[in-house]
Amino acid sequence: MPAMIPSQATITVRERLCLETRPGACGVIIFGASGDLARRKLFPALASLAARNLLPQRWYLVGCGRTAFTGDAFRSLVQTAVTAAHPNLPRDVLSAFLHRCAYVNGTYDDPSTYEVLARRLAELDVAHDTAGNRLFYLSVPPSLYGTIVRRLGAAGLTHSSGWVRLAVEKPHGHDLASAKALTRTLRGVVREDQIYRVDHYLGKETVQNILIFRFANLVFEPIWNGQYIEQVQITVAEQLGVGERAGYFDQTGLLRDMIQNHVLQLLTLVAMEMPATFDAHAVHNEKARVLDAVQLLPEQVVRAQYVRGELGGTMVPGYREEPGVVPDSSTETYVAACCEINTPRWHGVPFYLRSGKRLRCRKSEIAVFFKPVPRSIFHPLTPRDLTPNLLVFNIQPDEGLALMIQAKKPGPKLCMCDLNLDVSYREAFHTDPPEAYERLLLDCMCGDRTLFLRDDIIEKSWALLAPVVEAWARGDGVPLSTYPAGTWGPAAADQLPAARGHVWRDLCAWCKNHDLHRGSGP
Ligand code: BG6
Repeated sequence: MPAMIPSQATITVRERLCLETRPGACGVIIFGASGDLARRKLFPALASLAARNLLPQRWYLVGCGRTAFTGDAFRSLVQTAVTAAHPNLPRDVLSAFLHRCAYVNGTYDDPSTYEVLARRLAELDVAHDTAGNRLFYLSVPPSLYGTIVRRLGAAGLTHSSGWVRLAVEKPHGHDLASAKALTRTLRGVVREDQIYRVDHYLGKETVQNILIFRFANLVFEPIWNGQYIEQVQITVAEQLGVGERAGYFDQTGLLRDMIQNHVLQLLTLVAMEMPATFDAHAVHNEKARVLDAVQLLPEQVVRAQYVRGELGGTMVPGYREEPGVVPDSSTETYVAACCEINTPRWHGVPFYLRSGKRLRCRKSEIAVFFKPVPRSIFHPLTPRDLTPNLLVFNIQPDEGLALMIQAKKPGPKLCMCDLNLDVSYREAFHTDPPEAYERLLLDCMCGDRTLFLRDDIIEKSWALLAPVVEAWARGDGVPLSTYPAGTWGPAAADQLPAARGHVWRDLCAWCKNHDLHRGSGP
């Protein structure tokens, strides 16, 4: 049993560098303003930025949607959304925030919607002195992207006296051809450098920290390779099921919903070479190189679907029993894979990936397993008796970093133990990590595309998955297994690491230590 140490005892945080990221004056225009994402994430994130004093001095927010709101009704929706997320937001911040909100109602394919919008934005640009700088955020189903951007272009809204940027949510296509088609559509009206393709995982604190950890510290980079690293495991586990999103998810499946984007992005951050600079172009180039070198074979990809099972003390339905799911659906809710990266750095190192819904715990992490020491001077212990070092990036929940080392247990005899240096960011920095959307919205306004997806990265990710998708469509990939909700997935997934003498990391122990074994409810 590894010894745990309270992280407060060991941490000294000194602020070394804080890059000024306050954006210049601009307007933010959100399409799909009464939708779920806008209410749960975008408005609260903007309000939180306002509270942190990180929004520009001069800015405004326009909601655009099909719901026939008055301006007051829209402000009331924003107020409800913001106070639900931040009940303690100071009243003066909230009222100043609401004061900047306006609404334009209309259907997305009607040119008059955009004429009204254009007039409104022209007025607001003057009223708030925002110099024509505009961020259009598409928080709508992807089937509407083409219509909206074409109408924006036709109404002259993609040109202004200031900058114009377009933020688009995932999914960025559902395969290589559709991703290319979407890019062509967007690029028909704006340049690539105006497009901010969102993968919200890249805005998570712990994910941003991976590159700082790797490239702002000396100690790990020299051993960040196959000579010292035995294997890497990336897990993105959710307790939630398909919920009310069956219409989307049953057509999509977990490979497209989670692996193509979030999981592959985590892989690129762990595996990339050091970029020449920390700017978008250099970082994207290195990510693209990793994706070029990844080898993922259909026979190394296991897929499964959850069946009825117990989660957090409650029986929850199987996937096929969920509302809106086709009763004989063969959509996967779990994927595990083993891939290799054909570069000198990673030669021979397996990267195991797994992600699923209705798993035992909500836990996302990257675990880097180091090799055993080459020899042991601690007779009679052999190198295999000394637990190899393990480094874990805890992406969520309880964001942080843990390094397992060998240590002498205090006492007159020589007793060795595993010592887990487990740092929780919440404890270390005495604050809850901000929502990913805060950083992402801020970067859109600042014009920093580093945490967004360039067109070639999306395309390479789809191309990588194409042989798997094709094998599944032909019916000659690994067959669909099942797993009871509330477990860690199908037994078939164990074969992937077992084939190389490895096992999946037991996340139950971590969840127990962090009091996460209770369910979050069905
Ligand atoms: C989304 C997926 O991109 O990410 C969802 O479409 C998934 O299916 C979600 O539930 C997970 O995000 P998070 O931030 O809750 O881990």
